[in-house]
Amino acid sequence: MNVLVVGGGGREHALVWKINKSRKVKNLYAAPGNPGIAKIATCVNILPTDINGLVRFAKEKNIDLTVVGPELPLSLGIVDEFNKNGLKIFGPTRAASRIESDKSFAREFLAQYDIPSPKFQIYDSAAQALKYLKTINTFPVVVKAAGLAGGKGVFIVNNKNEYERIVDEVLVQHKLGEAGKKIVVEEFLTGQECSVFVLTDGLRILYLPSAQDHKRLYDGNRGPNTGGMGAYSPYPMSKLVTDFIKEVIVQPTILCMHEKGFPFKGVLYAGLIITPSGPKVLEFNCRFGDPEFQAMVPLIENDIIELFLGVVDNNLQDLQVKIKNLWSICVVLVSAGYPFDYKIGEEIQIKGPLDTGTLLFHAGTKIEDGKLVTAGGRVLNVVYAADNLRVAKQKVYEEIKKIHFNGMFYRKDIGSSGMKKMKRKRKVR
Ligand SMILES: Nc1ncnc2c1ncn2[C@@H]1O[C@H](COP(=O)(O)OP(=O)(O)O)[C@@H](O)[C@H]1O
Ligand SMILES: [Mg+2]
Repeated sequence: MNVLVVGGGGREHALVWKINKSRKVKNLYAAPGNPGIAKIATCVNILPTDINGLVRFAKEKNIDLTVVGPELPLSLGIVDEFNKNGLKIFGPTRAASRIESDKSFAREFLAQYDIPSPKFQIYDSAAQALKYLKTINTFPVVVKAAGLAGGKGVFIVNNKNEYERIVDEVLVQHKLGEAGKKIVVEEFLTGQECSVFVLTDGLRILYLPSAQDHKRLYDGNRGPNTGGMGAYSPYPMSKLVTDFIKEVIVQPTILCMHEKGFPFKGVLYAGLIITPSGPKVLEFNCRFGDPEFQAMVPLIENDIIELFLGVVDNNLQDLQVKIKNLWSICVVLVSAGYPFDYKIGEEIQIKGPLDTGTLLFHAGTKIEDGKLVTAGGRVLNVVYAADNLRVAKQKVYEEIKKIHFNGMFYRKDIGSSGMKKMKRKRKVR
């Protein structure tokens, strides 16, 4: 088969790495890819948003399957366009991807079917949003831009002044552009966050390993939000919680999307928070998580192309996900200053060979004058899987010591919350 992966970050490097192991694959391409991907696939300089360019390329190279990494091309209708041209593609249609790209739509949909979620209000006028402020007695509340904002559209608001400022910035000054045409004001929930991933053909469901992302810049979940500083997989959950998530959240969502006429095909990512009154939906995403996929990928035993084809061809009933009994950690190495202004072009040095069990995925790198240099905020992902989380953590941080670039920064506590959670559970027993 000829396979094309759309995207060029750490998640797409992990996808290409896993797809490259499939016996079914003959030629593997990535658009636009990155220097890490270039070692195992042919990179072509087409942007993920250039849907016509991608269709043309897929026809020219007789691509048998296209796999989409990021959300933006999905929300622009890349799947609809490929389908129209008779090309196979893994991912949801534009209509189904609204579950991620329009948070107001997602909230209304979930409320309609009583799928556990925070209480919410939706506003497109600042006057209305400020009128609602008069009724708020307890802070924080959460204000979210409804559209895709690349992780920069969610604000935990601690008082009236902050609320007024955010409403003004988003709904009046349009600082987030189109993404902020509408806002969702939500009840603030507390609890551990986790990400659940399922493959679905619109009706049938296969569960992939779960994960916990670490959004904040600093250890102990402090500091500003980022695209993700690391993840571990799986997320330890009791059978009770797991069953609740499957039966009360994931299955109803997929079946109701089908019923509503926008069946979801692809990977559905439930961003959940386990509150004292049970798991609730923070958001749904319509693609793999970055960096959660990098953490989860070494746990998947299957030929991933078979799983993707099962989704595309509606053959999931014949497949089972085989998950290795391991724990995996992904740590993201970022540039100094990220998630705000940061410098790029710093030379990346890797001293000594990495352990054979280590996976190194490129996120923001490029080759300049024959040297590997930084080219983004999130630069590299280091992944290690082991029999337990403690060993995985120890190994991944040992391996990171071999990597250097000026200003390199990373969190030192990825995996710690999972270890604590398991210790507590053992004590209860
Ligand atoms: N209702 C909520 N209560 C508490 N925290 C929230 C709530 N909604 C979002 N958050 C926090 O904000 C982060 C980002 O919100 P999310 O809805 O996942 O938006 P996005 O990933 O699109 O930026 C979440 O991971 C969570 O930490
Ligand atoms: Mg999120």
